[in-house]
Amino acid sequence: MITDKRGFELLKDTLRQPFLTHLHRAFLQIPPIDTPKILDIGCGSGVPTLELARISGGEVTGLDIDTKALQRLQEKVKAAGLEKRIHIVEGSLKTMDFPAASFDMLWAEGSIFVIGFRQGLKTWKRFLKPDGYLVVHDAVGNLDQKKRDITTYGYRLIDWFLLGKEVWWNTYYEPLSHEVQQIRRSNPTDPELKTALYQAEEEINGYEKHPERYRSVYFILHNKALSQ
Ligand SMILES: C[S@@+](CC[C@H](N)C(=O)[O-])C[C@H]1O[C@@H](n2cnc3c(N)ncnc32)[C@H](O)[C@@H]1O
Repeated sequence: MITDKRGFELLKDTLRQPFLTHLHRAFLQIPPIDTPKILDIGCGSGVPTLELARISGGEVTGLDIDTKALQRLQEKVKAAGLEKRIHIVEGSLKTMDFPAASFDMLWAEGSIFVIGFRQGLKTWKRFLKPDGYLVVHDAVGNLDQKKRDITTYGYRLIDWFLLGKEVWWNTYYEPLSHEVQQIRRSNPTDPELKTALYQAEEEINGYEKHPERYRSVYFILHNKALSQ
């Protein structure tokens, strides 16, 4: 039984795993690159980061601003023996200072909204190699405008696909809701866990009130302008 916040966070990471199907689908749209260098922007506790390292055979840099999430990622990297291929950077995705053209792929799941879609496309481009790829998983709002922005900022849209609101419920929120109820029944005492449970319930309520807001989209982009 889960008795602390750390256990609960690890459980949420486990519930996040089925979403990796969609990461695979996006990854397969990209032509094979030998040992690619990948930047996972807003990596959190690294569910995509670890999978990208596994399926690409390359080196993945995970960047996030959340110290605790990065600590969890660090533990998982160690447990998986991937220390040589996963590098963790604490910092803001708004002020990244990697060398120009240093990555074959930029991967941003649930993070571009922090800087704004356009600003992300514009400012992150300099970190991509001329023949590089950017994958963005974002909320579905302003889809047509986003597609125009992709062209405006010099990318070619290779593919895109939607995740419907039911995907979020069936894959994540319904199982999360079940787990939260189970933990509640055990009368947890840890204050941090209680806060985390409350936050999870708020998130689930948010879904139930506005499920349509939870549709999301993957964009797979090629760094077209620089490669011409
Ligand atoms: C929805 S989570 C996605 C995490 C991870 N990409 C995934 O798919 O599991 C968004 C992440 O963006 C991070 N984030 C928010 N603001 C940030 C910033 N200014 N710089 C870097 N990361 C940030 C959060 O800490 C969080 O880990």
